[in-house]
Amino acid sequence: MPELEKSSRGTWNTKLGFILAAAGSAVGLGNIWGFPTQVADNGGAAFILIYLVCCLVVGFPVMIAEFTIGRRTQKNPVGAFKALGKGFLAPLIGYWGVLCGVMILSFYLVISGWTLGYVLEEVFYFFGHESIASTLGDLGHGLKNAVFSVIFMLLTVLIITGGVSQGIERATKALMPILLILLIALIVYIFTLDGSMEGLIMYINPDFSTVDGDLILSALGQAFFSLSLGMGALITYGSYLNKEQNLVESAAYVTLTDVGIAFIAGLLVIPAMFVAQYGGTEIFNPETGALHSSVTLVFDVLPELFHQIGGVLGMIIGITFFILLGLAALTSSISLLEVPVSYVIDEFNVRRKKAAWGVGSLVAIIAIIISFDISLIDYFVYIFNEIGLPLGGLMICLFLGYFWKAENALLEIEQGFEGVESHWFAKVWTFFIRYICPVLIGLVLITTIYNIIS
Ligand code: TRP
Repeated sequence: MPELEKSSRGTWNTKLGFILAAAGSAVGLGNIWGFPTQVADNGGAAFILIYLVCCLVVGFPVMIAEFTIGRRTQKNPVGAFKALGKGFLAPLIGYWGVLCGVMILSFYLVISGWTLGYVLEEVFYFFGHESIASTLGDLGHGLKNAVFSVIFMLLTVLIITGGVSQGIERATKALMPILLILLIALIVYIFTLDGSMEGLIMYINPDFSTVDGDLILSALGQAFFSLSLGMGALITYGSYLNKEQNLVESAAYVTLTDVGIAFIAGLLVIPAMFVAQYGGTEIFNPETGALHSSVTLVFDVLPELFHQIGGVLGMIIGITFFILLGLAALTSSISLLEVPVSYVIDEFNVRRKKAAWGVGSLVAIIAIIISFDISLIDYFVYIFNEIGLPLGGLMICLFLGYFWKAENALLEIEQGFEGVESHWFAKVWTFFIRYICPVLIGLVLITTIYNIIS
């Protein structure tokens, strides 16, 4: 009913639809591109364990907080904090979220555009057009980057203009199962190739000697990014919920899906790297012994592997992988765009279509600038992911724990989770939101800032 959504705020059609949309937001480049690299870079399974702890101890409670704030206020992040808090400070958390959304989306589009480029690269390579193929696979090619990131933006805007249930929910419901099937099919295939076992061993064999402060920082930052936390994306998704949904259970499903898919993606990417190494591709830096950087990892090493496999099979596997990555990115980019779009719709009374095209164009302009100088991505990641998201998460915890108060949040959670106030969960969650999460995030942020200064 697109008509309805013009006049009122949209809502999710089904419980599962909401969970899949939120899981779709969470599962993205962060899982398939970010997580495996971090694992390989940080001593294999030791990183996985610490990452798990970060997701459960910090990510999960903050996700419940975001869902609760969203459903209670039925508003975008700026409107939500205005509604719950007094003064001008509270909405700042929302404005920060909107800004992070715009900035993260603009480099996210460039990386997502690379996936589209590589889908075509595989085709041109197969048909022997090597020079076109190498342009399509050239990560630094400004014009090519700009074209593909704008195409990706158009796809994102088209879904968003469809509204909540007809656009976002329908798209993610269709795309998420395809993603999982493609992922598993690729893993089964990779394990038939030489070298994959070596990768598996590195992946599941923990090396605790690499665990230090930096590793914990990376794990926490990765958890925020991968779970889509800290900028109100899940406040926005929660704002389209009715009161029957059990927020705690939903957050548990989303967290487990995200962690699960990251783990499965690692089962594909790390063995695939070792298969590529077996075929002669260099995956470790010979001087430092460290793994090649994340950008090179998925976008250079894996195409190399697909070329090694060769023939129609190599092309099909390559195309499948990059379509998979593109789909995962698409269900995430819609959640990033939905934050500023819902802000414009709610606060300025603009129609969804107009808001989506307007914000989309602004983001596309920034993406085009980044396209021509991809070294900017590092700065964006640093400011908006590594500092911005944990900072947002910290403010959300402090706001909920000390201003809005956990008791009030629990009244909201009660709807859909009867008896929560007397459940042990209530005490544990309140303790985490008030003490554990802010202290942990605070420590990480202080260390980050200390590292910048010194
Ligand atoms: N979680 C997505 C990923 O793993 C990225 C993402 C989508 C995101 N929406 C977000 C990150 C909101 C932070 C906040 O790729």
